[in-house]
Amino acid sequence: MPFTISECTDADMPRAFELLSLAFGHEHPYIESVFPAHATAEGRRVGGERFLEFRKADPLATKIKAVDVETGNMIGHARWIVCDGGLAPEFELDGSLDLMTVDPEHQRKGVGRKLLAWGLAVADKLGVGAVVEATEYGLGLYKAAGYKVKHDYEVLLPEKWAGRETQRYWWMARPKLTTEEAEGTEQRVEVC
Ligand SMILES: CC(C)(COP(=O)(O)OP(=O)(O)OC[C@H]1O[C@@H](n2cnc3c(N)ncnc32)[C@H](O)[C@@H]1OP(=O)(O)O)[C@@H](O)C(=O)NCCC(=O)NCCS
Repeated sequence: MPFTISECTDADMPRAFELLSLAFGHEHPYIESVFPAHATAEGRRVGGERFLEFRKADPLATKIKAVDVETGNMIGHARWIVCDGGLAPEFELDGSLDLMTVDPEHQRKGVGRKLLAWGLAVADKLGVGAVVEATEYGLGLYKAAGYKVKHDYEVLLPEKWAGRETQRYWWMARPKLTTEEAEGTEQRVEVC
């Protein structure tokens, strides 16, 4: 399936939120808590507006999208934070993949890998590392791209939510590459 990767516009935010809702379904306790009505028409309208607010509020964030060339539909999206000197020097954090979702109808076709490659190509060009707070769904993909698990943890819930499933996260980091390594990965991180 041919698809392109490009930067999102404001008009893409409702579909970006819809993709989050479809991709996580009802299996992700964090999404259920923050957007309890995400699967309803009203919940998606509100979610799309919040995505637009988030986008406008964060100058370091770049949202990218995957678009199916045949249908013109947006089938995946990711939100990258590229610090590029925007953080105090004591921080080693340079670039972060903040969110990535792919339409369940188009998963396992290489879309996630390309959305990841976009940000890693930027990191390699800037000569910086990259981090991600992974869910269980993205673990394999990030490991294959050179991320290593630094820490994992479970978010404990207050007693009033005792019946809810807890959420597990993996903090992963991909160190900055040497010049030779970056050259070696050029093909892998090629951007559509
Ligand atoms: C994670 C996600 C973005 C991957 O998108 P995708 O387009 O399906 O990924 P790709 O087709 O590029 O897969 C690349 C590799 O990732 C791994 N992978 C992807 N989905 C996987 C899954 N459900 N289970 C195990 N490994 C998976 C595989 O190694 C895969 O390679 P392969 O298909 O050759 O075996 C997608 O499954 C998704 O939106 N999940 C729900 C939201 C989410 O958890 N996002 C990540 C938050 S950190």
